Amino acid sequence: MKKTLIVNYTPRENSNTKKMADYFIERNKDKTDITILDLTEDTPDLLLKNNLNLVVARNFGGVELNEEQQKLLTKNDRLTNQLLDTDYVVVVTPVYNYSLPATVKAWFDAVIQAGRTFAATEKGLVGLCENTQALVLTTSGGDFGIEPLKNLNFATPLASTCFDLMGISTEAITVFGTQQYADKVTDLIEASKGEIDLLSEKWY
Ligand SMILES: Cc1cc2nc3c(=O)[nH]c(=O)nc-3n(C[C@H](O)[C@H](O)[C@H](O)COP(=O)(O)O)c2cc1C
Repeated sequence: MKKTLIVNYTPRENSNTKKMADYFIERNKDKTDITILDLTEDTPDLLLKNNLNLVVARNFGGVELNEEQQKLLTKNDRLTNQLLDTDYVVVVTPVYNYSLPATVKAWFDAVIQAGRTFAATEKGLVGLCENTQALVLTTSGGDFGIEPLKNLNFATPLASTCFDLMGISTEAITVFGTQQYADKVTDLIEASKGEIDLLSEKWY
C-alpha cells in the first residue's frame, strides 16, 4: 500500500483547514497507509547558529560530524527520512501574514537537505524525490482571488516552489475567504471536498 504523510499545522480550535484534512483522511484511510506529523506538537527546530553551521558543513562541505554534533541534527534528519519514506505528502496549513506559518516553513527548512532531498549538480539544482507527489490544503481569511489581495498569496506558491526544489510536483486545494465570507464558510469547506475527491481518485 502506498504511503501518505500528513504534515498538519492547524493550531486553532475548530480549525477550518483541519476540516479539509479530516475529510481527506477519513475518505482515504483504507486506500493508503497514513502517517500524521502534527507540527503543533512535534515542531521542527529553527535553523540557528548551532545546527545551521552543522548542516552547511555536512550537507554542503562533506564534513563528517561527530556523535554530539550529529545529535543536534536528529530532528531535521528524522523529518527528512520521514519525507523520503513516503509516496504522497499533504501539507495542511492556514495562510498567516500572506505566507506559510513559520512552523511550516521550518519544516521545509528541515527537510530541504542537500544530498538527501535535492542535489547541487553541474547542471544546477536537481530534486531527489521525483516519485513523491504533494498536496497543499489551505484556507485564508481573505479572498486572494480578487483585489485588494489579488497576487498577494505567497503561501501556496512558496510551498510548491519548495517542493519543486525537491523534485516533488504539487497541487493545491484552497478555500480563500473564511473571514471575508464568514456566513458561507461551511459551504466553501463543503465545496472543497469535491476537489479533494477528484485528487484522491487520481492518487489512489
Ligand atoms: C496569525 C494569523 C495570521 C493571518 N494572516 C492572514 C493573512 O495574511 N491573510 C488572510 O487572508 N488571512 C489571514 N489570517 C486568517 C486565516 O488565514 C484564516 O482565518 C484561516 O481560515 C484560518 O485557518 P484555520 O481555521 O485552520 O485556523 C491569519 C490568521 C492568523 C491567526
